[in-house]
Amino acid sequence: MRNIFNIYNEKELRLRTSKKWGTHGKDIIPLDIAEVDVPFGKSIINELSFLTRYADCGYISEKDISEYKEVYSDYYSRKHQKNIDAEKAVIFPGVIAASRILSQIYFETKKAAKAKRNIIISSPVYPPFITTIAEDFKLHDVPLNKEWRLDLNALEKKFKSLKGQSAIYLLCNPQNPTGTIHTSKELQTLVDYSNKYGVFIISDEIYSDMLRPGEFNSLICVKGAKRAISVISPSKAFGLPGLKSSIVFPFGEGEKLVEKAPKVITHILNHYPVRCAIAAYKYGDKYLKEFRASLDENFKYFDDLMKKHLPDAKVYYTGAVPLAWVDMKAYEGVNAQFIYKNAKVSVNDGVPFGGAKYKTFIRFNVATNQRVLKKGIVQIENAIKNQETKG
Ligand SMILES: Cc1ncc(COP(=O)(O)O)c(C=O)c1O
Repeated sequence: MRNIFNIYNEKELRLRTSKKWGTHGKDIIPLDIAEVDVPFGKSIINELSFLTRYADCGYISEKDISEYKEVYSDYYSRKHQKNIDAEKAVIFPGVIAASRILSQIYFETKKAAKAKRNIIISSPVYPPFITTIAEDFKLHDVPLNKEWRLDLNALEKKFKSLKGQSAIYLLCNPQNPTGTIHTSKELQTLVDYSNKYGVFIISDEIYSDMLRPGEFNSLICVKGAKRAISVISPSKAFGLPGLKSSIVFPFGEGEKLVEKAPKVITHILNHYPVRCAIAAYKYGDKYLKEFRASLDENFKYFDDLMKKHLPDAKVYYTGAVPLAWVDMKAYEGVNAQFIYKNAKVSVNDGVPFGGAKYKTFIRFNVATNQRVLKKGIVQIENAIKNQETKG
């Protein structure tokens, strides 16, 4: 079977203008931004061709919004053999936008004073949880434990300490960057704590399409949530990060929140992302299977490369996200800045994922052409060797 990450070569990828390939000069290999270097699946190509052939670029219709909800629930039932009801779901323009706007509404509804708008995260986590969703809120970090799993005891303590105040827990499900797949038991415990101590849960499930059938434990399937939302989007696995749309499932108090979302949200929604999301969920099963198999192959390839070229690095990944979280502690002074300057490879620095405790970590995006991956890792190995010879 072909590997879809090898379809575009480096020269072709360099023609791209979006953030990953469009930010740096031609001498830099980008293994950072979580864009996937694959062609669109047939379902997306057909939809985009149709939209452009007939200049179908008008306003979004109510029919589109209903269809989005219908096709997502059909897709979820098909993939995970669990029926879900999308009747109360609401479509937003992206995951971070939905999470931030709904957090704001939550705190306003609670009439929480500025200093008492608490956001809890479990680092290491996708940096915009800290910089964008929690931008001007009070941040609390309850880090993942040594196995990169939720520290449920510490979370209970934190939830309890904030009882009576307004607090939101931002769950990354599965977790970027560690790929932790939270079990249904862990999610149930979180929901129990949320119900007991009054903490609202926002579950960011943007990477869920990359999971294998049956593997994904969405908050949607956890019983009894009194204050939560799940935010899902086709943007990652279907290669649509710039065509922003998300589907928000509200539970309990979450239903009132989405009802209060400002009308401008529907106004901002764009016809193209919504039509592409519909096409992805309706006709994308075969493409997803190929994507999944290719990603497995890339992780195996990446793992072998790391063992060969950077054997002292500690590599963490599960395959649930296209990312690897790597501790470079054994290579003194080798962080993202060193790698950028000396190896001409852009990887993510660990610090923005939760502070100085991650200063020896870097994050790799493995969803690219294998030659690019190899070139990047060999350049890092050589930069380290050069430094050793100089030293
Ligand atoms: C965990 C997570 N959530 C959200 C996003 C971005 O979502 P959106 O572009 O829909 O706001 C990303 C992008 O990398 C991500 O990793």
